[in-house]
Amino acid sequence: MANNIKNGTLFSLFWENSKINKRNILTFAKRLDEDARTAKNVPQIFYPTEDLFLSRPRDDLSRLMCERKSSRSFSDVALSEKQLGSLFYAFAQRSKSTRLIPSAGGKYPIEVYAFLFNVRSKLNKKVVYYNADNHSLSVVAESCDWQKEQEFFGLNLDGVPAVFFVFVAIPERTIDKYGERGGRFILIEVGHYAQNLALRLSLEKLGGVISGALRDDEVKRLLGLQNTNALITLGFACGNIKR
Ligand SMILES: Cc1cc2nc3c(=O)[nH]c(=O)nc-3n(C[C@H](O)[C@H](O)[C@H](O)COP(=O)(O)O)c2cc1C
Repeated sequence: MANNIKNGTLFSLFWENSKINKRNILTFAKRLDEDARTAKNVPQIFYPTEDLFLSRPRDDLSRLMCERKSSRSFSDVALSEKQLGSLFYAFAQRSKSTRLIPSAGGKYPIEVYAFLFNVRSKLNKKVVYYNADNHSLSVVAESCDWQKEQEFFGLNLDGVPAVFFVFVAIPERTIDKYGERGGRFILIEVGHYAQNLALRLSLEKLGGVISGALRDDEVKRLLGLQNTNALITLGFACGNIKR
């Protein structure tokens, strides 16, 4: 047990067991259908006290937070390089050792990749890696094709997302320090990445939706990470929305 805790063996096992692949995707989809048919409203916890009513902020941040919502219908208007810069800035480095996003122990286990399906840039149709240190993109694959690859992205969308972000974890960065507990931190940190991106999407009047149903191994292969320990955590389809 002590060894497991040090090396994150149980986290790896959990990860392997929660992967989606072409064999279990139908069972997964059936679960979602069942939930859609039977789900009730999320219950609210009730305390029998005299509640204190709070004022609601009326500031730019609260407006952006209110505008954030999932959009699954994309227009064919491409994203500009300026908009790309704005979205990727969600994950930028602040100083030599910190990013705009918090990270347990400053280990930054999350790396950001993206499929550029529809951008006005020489990088259109390429797969890229984001360099947080100098806010730049490196090409990791010369081509991508939504029509061919969409089944791996786990989303049913109307139209083609201009950009599909993938948050990839390098687990040993965090697990070497925190053991099994580090597994929790990695997943929590992905949420920060998704939220920062969601707020920048609102600011840019763009839309998007998270994908929690990526086909792990296929997406890993598309990113050229098949021979690494990298974990495919979440996807985020983004773009101009159909109005
Ligand atoms: C971890 C996570 C995974 C999600 N996965 C999916 C997904 O696979 N497909 C999808 O259509 N929406 C997905 N969503 C979006 C939720 O369905 C959506 O956030 C929820 O219905 C609330 O709606 P809102 O985002 O418009 O407020 C996911 C959201 C989160 C946080």
